[in-house]
Amino acid sequence: MDPIIAANWKMNKTVKEAVSFIKDFKELVKAITNVNIIICPSSTSLYPIHEELGDSNINLGAQNIYFEKEGAFTGELSPLMAKELCKYVIIGHSERRGIFNEDNSLINKKLTAALDNNLTPIFCIGESLEEKEAGKSKDVVKKQIKEGLKGIDTKKIIIAYEPIWAIGTGKTATPDIAQDMHSFIKEIVGNVPVLYGGSVKPENIVELIKEKDIDGALVGGASLDAKSFSEIVKGSMS
Ligand code: PGA
Repeated sequence: MDPIIAANWKMNKTVKEAVSFIKDFKELVKAITNVNIIICPSSTSLYPIHEELGDSNINLGAQNIYFEKEGAFTGELSPLMAKELCKYVIIGHSERRGIFNEDNSLINKKLTAALDNNLTPIFCIGESLEEKEAGKSKDVVKKQIKEGLKGIDTKKIIIAYEPIWAIGTGKTATPDIAQDMHSFIKEIVGNVPVLYGGSVKPENIVELIKEKDIDGALVGGASLDAKSFSEIVKGSMS
C-alpha cells in the first residue's frame, strides 16, 4: 500500500495563504504518484483549494464534521457539505477531545456519519503524558478504539496514532515506541492503515516510515510550509 501523508493545518492560513501554498506545493509534488497526499485545511479554504487542486494527485480532507446532516447546529460543518468537496475527514483529534470536550461516544457518532456519507475518516487516538507516565498508554488507546469504533466498518477507516505528549512539542515518539503501539492497534482493529502523528518533520519521516506498521503520517506544524511538507511526502517513499 502507498504511504498516506496527511496535513492537518489546524486553525491556520487565510484563503489567500492557503491557495498560495497549494500553487507552490502542487509543483513540488507533481511527479509523485505513489503517495496518498491529503490536505486538511480550515473550512473556509475547502472550496478554493478544491478548485485549485483540480484533478491533481492531492486529496482534500476536512478537519471535523458534526454527525447531523443539517439543521440548527450553529457553527458546525455537515457531512453533506464536507462530502461535496472532500474525500477525507479528521475525527477525534486530541484538540477536539481536549479543548472541545468530544468524548468517545460523540466521536463514534461522527465516524458513523462520515462513513454514511462516503467520507473516509482519519480517526485519531493517543494518550496524554500523564497517562503515559502512569503506564496506561495501551489501556487508553484500547478504550478509545473499543468505544470510538463501536459498530463501525473498520475496513473503511484510517487510524492516526498521535500521542498527545508528542503533538506540537518537538518530542516525537521514537520509531520503536510508535511501532509497538501501531502493531498493538492492528492487533485490536485488524489490518487498517495506521498513521503516526506528533512532531513529524522532514528529519524524522524516513526512520518512522521504515517501521513495519507505520503506514504514513498526520503532520501539523511541518505541513504549513510547502517545501517542508513536500520533503515529508518525498521522505515517505524511502
Ligand atoms: P504536530 O501536530 O505535527 O504539529 O505535532 C500533529 C497533529 O496534531 O495532527
